[in-house]
Amino acid sequence: MNLVVGATGVLGGEICSRLAQAGKSVRGLVRASSDPARVDALRKQGVELAQGDLTDPASLDAACRGVHTVYSTATAIQSRQEGNTLDRVDREGHANLIDAAQKAGVRRFVFISFRGRPDIDYPLQAAKRATAERLKKSAIPWTIIEASMFMEVWLGPHLGFDAKNAHARIFGKGDKKISWISYRDVAALAIAAGESPTGENQVLEIGGPEALTPLEVIRIFEQRGGKKFVLDYVPDEALVDAKANAKNPVEETFAGLQLFYARGFEVDTKPTLARFPMRLTSVREYAERVLAG
Ligand SMILES: NC(=O)c1ccc[n+]([C@@H]2O[C@H](COP(=O)([O-])OP(=O)(O)OC[C@H]3O[C@@H](n4cnc5c(N)ncnc54)[C@H](OP(=O)(O)O)[C@@H]3O)[C@@H](O)[C@H]2O)c1
Repeated sequence: MNLVVGATGVLGGEICSRLAQAGKSVRGLVRASSDPARVDALRKQGVELAQGDLTDPASLDAACRGVHTVYSTATAIQSRQEGNTLDRVDREGHANLIDAAQKAGVRRFVFISFRGRPDIDYPLQAAKRATAERLKKSAIPWTIIEASMFMEVWLGPHLGFDAKNAHARIFGKGDKKISWISYRDVAALAIAAGESPTGENQVLEIGGPEALTPLEVIRIFEQRGGKKFVLDYVPDEALVDAKANAKNPVEETFAGLQLFYARGFEVDTKPTLARFPMRLTSVREYAERVLAG
């Protein structure tokens, strides 16, 4: 049995779908407060549902029973739930999950993280680092996937990238390269590495097939869509200021992630692809999908 923690999220949902479509048994951790439509979609795909919460160790003991592989994509960054702080969920919650997995004799723990930039730190990054360290010290064989920025998130409407209306928010000057990755490719790698001895006790970094600046991305969308974009720039200094004056760890993390985008992030994916050959989605393909949809 596979257990996916974060099953109702973007990446966790994709991991569940892929495992279920491949005929593998999969259990998804869901909460009473999870979006009912997402829970229903999991049920329809044949995903076994386990009620639980990273802040509730007993629920994790039950969810880990009979499980050989845990995939954790969960994060509280978008959580609107009272008390679901990054510390309680991303740090302590993952410590609870590692403990429960170890007690249950889980044979692989796949944790989704990202590699930060040395010049920017923020609470989510610190919590991810703490979880990775704890996992490496545990008795469970592990795989850590360090993914670059998801194109569907950062080049999507929630972060001000409105392709249909040719309007985009740009963090910084838009001139630093980013290795945009599709979350679907992250899901494929997580499963391939989680199921293979080659992925055991490995940190695997993954970015897209081509690093592009946000302005290069805009040009691709303009060429494909035939419409000139209107751009709103959020300067680097405004992000530094927002981070310094953040009222809570989530605000600080959002400002930190936006600074991360502003300053760029290129990933050399070759070492990971050499071990796990796969075809990665390009921003051009993503643009076609979005503009056609
Ligand atoms: N977005 C990016 O560019 C990017 C890049 C690299 C790495 N990542 C990492 O990729 C992972 C997946 O991201 P995503 O976009 O799929 O996240 P997401 O859509 O926000 O999903 C978060 C999931 O975590 C669950 N969760 C939150 N608090 C929980 C708790 N207390 N107990 C149990 N589950 C809890 C949520 O459940 P509910 O539905 O019940 O709230 C949801 O299923 C994250 O760890 C993120 O840091 C993201």
